[in-house]
Amino acid sequence: MSRAALAILSTENLLHNLDVIKNHAPNSAVIAMIKANGYGHGLRSTAMRLEKYVYSLGVASIDEALALRKVNIKIPITLMEGVFEPNELLVAACENFHVVFHEQSQLEWIKTASLPCPLTAWLKVDTGMGRLGFTLDRAQDAYTQLAAHPLINQPIGIMSHFGCSDEIDHPLNQTQINNFTHFIQGKSGIKSFCNSAAIFSFKDHQYDVVRPGLALYGVSPIPTISAAQLGLKPVMTLQTRLMAVRDVSKGSSLGYGARFICPNDMRVGVIAMGYGDGYPRTARDGTPILVNGIRCPLVGRVSMDMITVDVTSCPNPQVNDPVVLWGNGLPIEEVSQYTEQCPYDMLTAVQSRVKFHWTLAI
Ligand SMILES: Cc1ncc(COP(=O)(O)O)c(C=O)c1O
Repeated sequence: MSRAALAILSTENLLHNLDVIKNHAPNSAVIAMIKANGYGHGLRSTAMRLEKYVYSLGVASIDEALALRKVNIKIPITLMEGVFEPNELLVAACENFHVVFHEQSQLEWIKTASLPCPLTAWLKVDTGMGRLGFTLDRAQDAYTQLAAHPLINQPIGIMSHFGCSDEIDHPLNQTQINNFTHFIQGKSGIKSFCNSAAIFSFKDHQYDVVRPGLALYGVSPIPTISAAQLGLKPVMTLQTRLMAVRDVSKGSSLGYGARFICPNDMRVGVIAMGYGDGYPRTARDGTPILVNGIRCPLVGRVSMDMITVDVTSCPNPQVNDPVVLWGNGLPIEEVSQYTEQCPYDMLTAVQSRVKFHWTLAI
């Protein structure tokens, strides 16, 4: 049998999560965020499953957008960071990529662009996150320029992004809401503000289009509320099998750096998964792993291709027994508490040598 590092991806759960999101934002269209290789789930395969059900797909670069057109994705694709050089404007116009404008240089490029057809544009306003977008003192001028441009479909959209939506009581949220509400006053055109956490926490500010990422993949975007409480189901189950079972005596050390010293005689399983597959090397002793459906603690440092796990509490563990690292039965949010990483890091880190199997071919 070949190496069994697998990511099982559930089409049913992806579409279920989309329904949950739509039920929370019944009056908003959806830009499904599939940048960064579909949050580690696969750019094209995720897009193909969502295309029929969403308004647009959100990507970070024109390369990601073109890869989607190559597999015949036809719906609008939103370049969340806009174009990175002027000649991308032509490609965007021809391919119906919706373009975010967040920077003065992008306004200069569109001024001198010659396009065969008009472009759909979003103005990105920095309402307080302090990352991307026109600051409030400059946003009105940028809006006026885009709104007067003959090559841009009118009215333009306006979007902003929360910096702390996963902390509902963070004071920055209200500041951003106030700034956005003030800026959009009297401006027609579609508006968009909410990522996953904001969809659940700021229902009054969902506007015309919401932009879920993490929640689509079945992970809770709010640390104090579980995915199950929100009705979300994990799309990815990262799994493998036991490749060796060993009896180890009290006082022996396990793995690199001899980080773990066995406190008793123990039975230790070696599993076919490591940081070379994307499993976090930072995982501490005690990180939960399901072996045969039983929660067992990781012991010893994660190596490139293997992890050691204490299977003493498993009745009769055998080579080839199934192992789940996260997903069904073991929420990634819970595993992340032992890894000093968050689910975003962990999902996007899964490597291509892991075999990806989607349920329900399309
Ligand atoms: C502009 C923008 N909107 C929406 C999202 C989706 O965020 P989340 O995955 O938290 O839903 C992101 C993610 O980085 C983003 O940058």
